[in-house]
Amino acid sequence: MTDYLDYVFNDSPEFVSTFDELPLWSASFGLLLLKHLELRQGITLLDIGSGAGFPLLELAQRLGSSCKCYGIDPWVNANNRVREKIKNYAIKNVEVIDGSADQLPFEDNTVDIVVSNLGANNFDDPEKVFKECCRVLKPGAKLALTTNLNGHWREFYNLFEETLRQMGRTDLVEPLIKHQEHRGTVATVSTMFTDSGFEVVQSFEEKLEMKFANGTAFLNHYFVKLGWLASWKALIPAEILSDFFERLEANLNAYATNNGGLTLTVPMAFIEGQKKANK
Ligand SMILES: C[S@@+](CC[C@H](N)C(=O)[O-])C[C@H]1O[C@@H](n2cnc3c(N)ncnc32)[C@H](O)[C@@H]1O
Repeated sequence: MTDYLDYVFNDSPEFVSTFDELPLWSASFGLLLLKHLELRQGITLLDIGSGAGFPLLELAQRLGSSCKCYGIDPWVNANNRVREKIKNYAIKNVEVIDGSADQLPFEDNTVDIVVSNLGANNFDDPEKVFKECCRVLKPGAKLALTTNLNGHWREFYNLFEETLRQMGRTDLVEPLIKHQEHRGTVATVSTMFTDSGFEVVQSFEEKLEMKFANGTAFLNHYFVKLGWLASWKALIPAEILSDFFERLEANLNAYATNNGGLTLTVPMAFIEGQKKANK
């Protein structure tokens, strides 16, 4: 079992050349973003954490030639893939920048809208990023993001905690709860917006259900390994790692047998803030 524990992310041009620009995971959040985002002519848009090109390339094309779009991401191999796509799709109004959103290479008050699909939980210092967005946005311009909230994959994390308790490792429950809480709520993200110079003008919440046949399928899914496995392994001491994951997998599989599959809930939010006039 537990072969997935050997997974190591391979950030090479070869790997990234097959990385999906729009993984199904990102797509659900992207649809939420595209549903609520206002598209206007003649604007400058910045996508922070543009990854392999979503929503950057979709927005560049939906906005059209009167608009200029920029993406920024420190993931250089992904940015190079985006550049290939820009060239091959002949999209003229978009550029991607190697860099971090906490230091944006833009003048003050020059950008009309900043978007981010699933960026916020990945920034080391999201508040610094939001303040930087506020600096570059024009007065009254907007920051719109989507994110997964605390409560993400609740069914999985309940079984993670139960497995720790079965093994008598209640000392590891508190770090597990902290790990889950790093994903905010609409209220905590809104507070971060407010503290960074924005007034929250609208927010929408939706729930996504992700179905897997069982825990073995879930733990071996390449995107689960790529996106989350390292953070779960970091919660478990090396000497019990295999034992823990074997038990967790068995618990997930038993749950799936009893419940007709493993259905995991993802609370998603679209949150939009407007730069305050005096910032
Ligand atoms: C979950 S991915 C989302 C990618 C893409 N927007 C999507 O919807 O698929 C988060 C992205 O944020 C990027 N990221 C992490 N820290 C960043 C930072 N400080 N500034 C900009 N992007 C960052 C990562 O490299 C990654 O591409």
